[in-house]
Amino acid sequence: MLKNDVIQSFENHHDKRIKKYLNLFLALVISSSIYTAYIIRYTNTSNKITQYSSGISYETYNYGLSKCEEIKRIKPDNNHIQSRTSNPRFVPGTKDILLKNARILDGIGQDFLGDVLLKNGIISEITNYDEKKNDINVNDDTVVIDLKKKFVTPGLIDMHSHAGVSSWPYLKGTDDVNEETDPLTPFVRAKDALNPSDPAIRIISSGGVTTSLIIPGSGNLMGGEGYVIKMRNVSTLSVDDMGINYGINPSEEKEWRWLKMACGENPKKVYRFQNRIPTTRLGEGWLFRKKFQEVRTLFRKQNDWCDSASKLSSNNNVQLDSPFPEDLQYDSLMALFRGDAKLNIHCYETHDLEAIIRHSLEFNFTISALHHALDAYRIPDVIKRANSQITIATFSDNWGYKKEAFQASTRSPKILADAGIPVALKSDHPVTNAQHLAFEAAKAHHYGLDEKLSIASITSVPARALGLNHRIGQITIGYDADLVVWDSHPLSLGATPLEVYIDGIPQFDTPNSVLSGKSKGSKRSSAQNEPIKNKVKRKERIASSVIINNIGKIFVNKDTIIEPKNSSVKDENISIIIKDGLVECIGNCVISNHNPPEVIDLNGGYVLPGMIAVGGSLGLIEIGQEPSTTDGFVPIINYPDSEDQVIKAIDGLKFGGKHLEAAYKAGVLCSITSPLSFGVINGISVAFRTGSYTVLDEEPIIESETALHVQIGVSFKNAYIPSVSSQIGLLRRTLLRAVFKPTTRNIYSKVAKGLVPLAVHTDNKDEIASLIKLKQQISNHGGDLRLIIIGGTEAHLIAEQLSKNNVSVVLSPSRPVPNLWTAKNVLIGSPITNTTGIEILVKHKVKVAIGVHNSAWTRNLVWDAGWAVTNSNGLLDEKDAVALISWNLEEIFNLNRKKLNKQGLSKGNIANFVAYDGNPFDLNTKVRLVAGGGRKDILIDPIQD
Ligand SMILES: *[C@@H]1O[C@H](CO)[C@@H](O)[C@H](O)[C@H]1NC(C)=O
Ligand SMILES: *[C@@H]1O[C@H](CO)[C@@H](O)[C@H](O)[C@H]1NC(C)=O
Ligand SMILES: *[C@@H]1O[C@H](CO)[C@@H](O)[C@H](O)[C@H]1NC(C)=O
Ligand SMILES: *[C@@H]1O[C@H](CO)[C@@H](O)[C@H](O)[C@H]1NC(C)=O
Ligand SMILES: *[C@@H]1O[C@H](CO)[C@@H](O)[C@H](O)[C@H]1NC(C)=O
Repeated sequence: MLKNDVIQSFENHHDKRIKKYLNLFLALVISSSIYTAYIIRYTNTSNKITQYSSGISYETYNYGLSKCEEIKRIKPDNNHIQSRTSNPRFVPGTKDILLKNARILDGIGQDFLGDVLLKNGIISEITNYDEKKNDINVNDDTVVIDLKKKFVTPGLIDMHSHAGVSSWPYLKGTDDVNEETDPLTPFVRAKDALNPSDPAIRIISSGGVTTSLIIPGSGNLMGGEGYVIKMRNVSTLSVDDMGINYGINPSEEKEWRWLKMACGENPKKVYRFQNRIPTTRLGEGWLFRKKFQEVRTLFRKQNDWCDSASKLSSNNNVQLDSPFPEDLQYDSLMALFRGDAKLNIHCYETHDLEAIIRHSLEFNFTISALHHALDAYRIPDVIKRANSQITIATFSDNWGYKKEAFQASTRSPKILADAGIPVALKSDHPVTNAQHLAFEAAKAHHYGLDEKLSIASITSVPARALGLNHRIGQITIGYDADLVVWDSHPLSLGATPLEVYIDGIPQFDTPNSVLSGKSKGSKRSSAQNEPIKNKVKRKERIASSVIINNIGKIFVNKDTIIEPKNSSVKDENISIIIKDGLVECIGNCVISNHNPPEVIDLNGGYVLPGMIAVGGSLGLIEIGQEPSTTDGFVPIINYPDSEDQVIKAIDGLKFGGKHLEAAYKAGVLCSITSPLSFGVINGISVAFRTGSYTVLDEEPIIESETALHVQIGVSFKNAYIPSVSSQIGLLRRTLLRAVFKPTTRNIYSKVAKGLVPLAVHTDNKDEIASLIKLKQQISNHGGDLRLIIIGGTEAHLIAEQLSKNNVSVVLSPSRPVPNLWTAKNVLIGSPITNTTGIEILVKHKVKVAIGVHNSAWTRNLVWDAGWAVTNSNGLLDEKDAVALISWNLEEIFNLNRKKLNKQGLSKGNIANFVAYDGNPFDLNTKVRLVAGGGRKDILIDPIQD
């Protein structure tokens, strides 16, 4: 029914005009091909009665007109918004903050010393000392902080995060990332699922991330609508209040929406499992096009309706008799077609990327960003065929977990940037911890992306791709007061925020004395604070003999470091001579002039023993999600009796894959790999050289029976051993039986006697405590367990007991996160906690090392160690870092001394080491050569694919 006030707005019309429009109506009926029919409203001014024959109410019609208005309205272009003087997110009572003497990396390519004033939630003034040094006038209660040249960047922006929809710790109850009941769910919204109490939000902000695009997962082709939030908790705990669009005036500022879609392996795997379309890329393409066709039809219907209505609109006595066509399930896609939504689409392979671009051209919508897109670097030309500039939102060096991620290249960001394609780096949190977004950029920089573009890749580039570059992503007057004060150059290893400001609010209450204090890491080379110099382009090659000159430090073993007493004296030139794969001389070598092999000037760089990877699947898995590329999973052992049941990893080794090659090229020359299992008992690990060719060679296998690996925890429950208690019980029964009835050949007897270590994969404090108790029980019965904990996220909680009971820990990952219910007591480190698990373990003299959690990142082992040292407040030094990834592991796993003593950094040994052109704990540094690892040849200037 019409309401009176609506009727009244129609009361002033004259009958004459009705006649005129009757004629127009007739003309339209005859000439128009439009689908809509009309009715005529007669209005009688004298008795105020409105009549109409049929169709829709005036209210409904008027609603349709308002929708047409909305569609027609020229939406504000945010690029033209200038000099904002306040931020709607400003919290009254927030004090103005003046950051003085800041080294500003502004996100758009500038690097200068200056002052920044944060006021009303925005950056309200900036001075650049190079231009002028006028003091900024401030109020009496402005907080003034002298940063003493510390680095300041814009708050970082992560344009691919699932924080809040895939909360920590992982629980079924908090898994709200994929609505996997239909491959096409463009209508669901991350906003409706987002948990503002996800502890990850604060952890992520502690890494300097101030804004994130939270998106549904990639199980569906059309996953739903994303939502951009500021990474700061609000007192209301309201998701709406966290939204970036909170409080904006849509008539002045465009209110963007964000869509998430996905193609390639994920949707087809999800729906193959459900036995419905799409099970192939064929089905994916069809479903996309079918849905886009439906949207296009509706889009045209809407336009037609509005066109028709506008032809009638100067007289309100005539109206269309069908309602404005719309359907809530198409609302977000319609926003895409109308240019009001930014499309973010997860695709990897070249043909996937091309297909979605093809669809966008067929249906005339624009793609804002291609996500992951690990193959994009191979097809810049195809990407440029799109109807708008596409941003590639990618990983720096995560790869290999599935086929479509297998062709990745570390050089991809640089190649794309060189082709003029904007590159953003993102986390895919919790796939990678978004707290370390800056590290993604730092690694991209290490692999060649220009310094300024690397900073931009986590600030201004994602800001632009999100349509928010008028207010975030750069340090510019009028932009939101989202800033990060860093303890070192943000692209240096272990760079950590000291303070993070969001909307002008300090998030971590860091004392001003710290912000004004000394920069971290007096031990770090000054070069670390400088961008990577354009190094000479080198070519990967091999040699059998080489002279390495001008070495800065040789870490020989835990007792010996060789370094020049005074590096500026030529006689103190430290060298290594390798002849036919053997170390001929090390230290002060006399280099004869006749017949010299290639000479490599290390220029003060370091030499490290080959590193050891523990905990990964090197040699057994090439592509994690492709069974034909893996050894497979061993049978679950429920009643361990004889050795026969225990599988040895050595029997499954396959050499020469890309993962092994990447590890080898990074100087990770040994892997301790255990069989793969879904049950408690994995089997027996093998320690082998990563560069080897076959198990038949004598050299590659260091220890064929390295340790017995078992895994305890909720992830390994199965039908037969359905609880953690039964897992521990199984282990106790087996080992006590072995103590009581030892048989020489039985692996369990060897373990119970301490001849072979027992490596237990677990994270939880109480599970570790139960294992210590088990070790004590075995001792009480005359046995002796050499217990190693792999994982150990909560190990610091019982550091004292670990130390007392001589249990070692291989921390994996080395920077743990609270992602599991049973391992949520982690110490995140600065600026949230003032210490970390590894520090506590070291303080308690627990024998500790760093393991590999993600095989793709085996090559980053030296950085993991460097990170631990850099952020240990001086507790650990460089030598400790080397220990964490080399000789500590030799000791923990009791590796074959006889064999090890033939290899390494002593005269007469088989060369087995890695040499760098600088300090390896500095991201500027590159590997110069790798010797050993099971190969006779030396690899010079290796290139990581
Ligand atoms: C935000 O979280 C921090 C740390 O959890 C807390 O100290 C602070 O009171 C919270 N602020 C608001 C406005 O809820
Ligand atoms: C495609 O969309 C753009 C605006 O987004 C419009 O200007 C253009 O006319 C459309 N092309 C076709 C063929 O519909
Ligand atoms: C190193 O040698 C140079 C040149 O002889 C000398 O000037 C310098 O003082 C020496 N440095 C140290 C620490 O001995
Ligand atoms: C030291 O290294 C330089 C190359 O930087 C080389 O020219 C010189 O001969 C070396 N000195 C000695 C004593 O080996
Ligand atoms: C670190 O923080 C803890 C708890 O917040 C505190 O008890 C301890 O004194 C702090 N230690 C240092 C060295 O600041």
